Amino acid sequence: MNKTIIVSNRLPLQVSIHDNSLKVSPSVGGLATGMKSVHSEGNGIWVGWSGIPENELNPELSREVQNKIKKEKCVSVPLTSQDIEEYYEGFSNRALWPLFHYFMEYTNFEQKEWEAYKRVNEKFAEVVIDNLNDGDTVWVHDYQLLLLPQLIKEKKPNTTIGFFLHIPFPSYEIFRTFPWREEILTGMLGADLLGFHTYDYERHFLSSVKRILRLDVNFNEINFHDRIIKVDSFPMGIDYSKFHNAALKHHSDSYEKSELRTRLEEHLVDDKKLILSIDRMDYTKGIPNRIKAFEYFLDTYPQYKEKVRLVMLAVPSRSNVPQYQKLKRETDELVGRINGKFATVSWTPIWYFYRSLPFENLIDLYISSDVALITPIRDGMNLVAKEYVATRTHGNGVLILSEMAGASKEMNEALLINPNSYEDFAASLNTALTMPLNEQETRIKLLQKRLKRYDVEKWAEEFLKALKKTKEVTSNNITK
Ligand code: ADP
Ligand code: F6P
Repeated sequence: MNKTIIVSNRLPLQVSIHDNSLKVSPSVGGLATGMKSVHSEGNGIWVGWSGIPENELNPELSREVQNKIKKEKCVSVPLTSQDIEEYYEGFSNRALWPLFHYFMEYTNFEQKEWEAYKRVNEKFAEVVIDNLNDGDTVWVHDYQLLLLPQLIKEKKPNTTIGFFLHIPFPSYEIFRTFPWREEILTGMLGADLLGFHTYDYERHFLSSVKRILRLDVNFNEINFHDRIIKVDSFPMGIDYSKFHNAALKHHSDSYEKSELRTRLEEHLVDDKKLILSIDRMDYTKGIPNRIKAFEYFLDTYPQYKEKVRLVMLAVPSRSNVPQYQKLKRETDELVGRINGKFATVSWTPIWYFYRSLPFENLIDLYISSDVALITPIRDGMNLVAKEYVATRTHGNGVLILSEMAGASKEMNEALLINPNSYEDFAASLNTALTMPLNEQETRIKLLQKRLKRYDVEKWAEEFLKALKKTKEVTSNNITK
């Protein structure tokens, strides 16, 4: 039976060592959480990195890791500490990530890290090819593996290969500054179908292909080495029923409330409100901006003092990369300063958690909050915005969403703001906090309808269907 091989840098589970024994926890991030439900239902495998450097494992632990991973239908690509430093923290997260998110000043282009990026993409190719049978489909994900489609195509030209980018593709003017721009584009063109979250990212990619590689681009088709490659947008959805049903369960009378929920609800008396933000601790998510805008809001609308609280969950991420360390320090300082400025004996304006929380706690946060404040400076999609909406089982709640998140393209009923404008922030918070219940319900219901219809399963199904079709058309053209 033919299978689909999902390939991404990170597996849906992460292995770590605590007191000489292995701990397995779920991975955080849109790709892992989104694809997890697709993977668990299919008959395929998932190839990726376990989250632990191979050289830190003795043979016995290494076998144990393999076994744990195998149980979850996954196959690991062994990466050394040097690979992780140069390919993951280095090239992926200090060159590609900032460039693709328009943070030019954060980019660092190092030849040595580029070599590591090529080396690790080849390691991934080897593992994929070892697990590949005739007729299998390979679906490669994200910016850490941009060279992989071509590496597989060279060795296994008949394989059907799809590629999906989970982050923005920048405009040509940004992308052309990249030292290895031809190699990156050629690597991606090993795929038969390339998917992006939005039409804008798709357009930017096609424009770079046309202007840098000087290839024939006909609408959304590229003619390359006698192959027709298709490019399209597929906005990623969430596992809607998982979030919706979890919220229903948490609201049921028989459900025992967690301590977190009880503490959150203690604040929700006398018309007090909770405002929620959840992100990985990443400079693209606009965390310092949001805190400063919240300060501006409390200064501009003093009637909300002691009435609202911002609950901010920031999940540790890429903490070996200097810019992430700087962001953590800046966030700590800002939260401290603003809490110091406004706090009273009975009220702290910001509750700040810097940790990963279990899924059930995530649901507690979603269902207890009156407003979600999702304000990235730049974000490929942002699934947290969608998850918040899915958990609003009572129809109330307001989503404030940055125009710079891919999700804003399909979530018009949210209050869309420019995250660089404190005035916009403050005015939208005021609108959200005073929005009549019937208007909240109308907006939430429309959003829910769309999210339910186009959930992550549908998203994957449409992508794989389009991939199959592209391949059939190409094969027919070749036989003619
Ligand atoms: P990104 O992919 O950039 O991290 P997204 O908003 O698209 O951003 O995805 C974040 C994902 O991580 C969401 O699915 C969210 O539920 C999950 N997540 C966020 N915080 C936590 C947490 N503390 N524990 C577990 N999962 C989390
Ligand atoms: O959504 C973008 C992304 O980089 C995904 O590839 C990844 O799952 C997530 O963010 C988390 O990042 P990391 O794998 O570096 O922890």
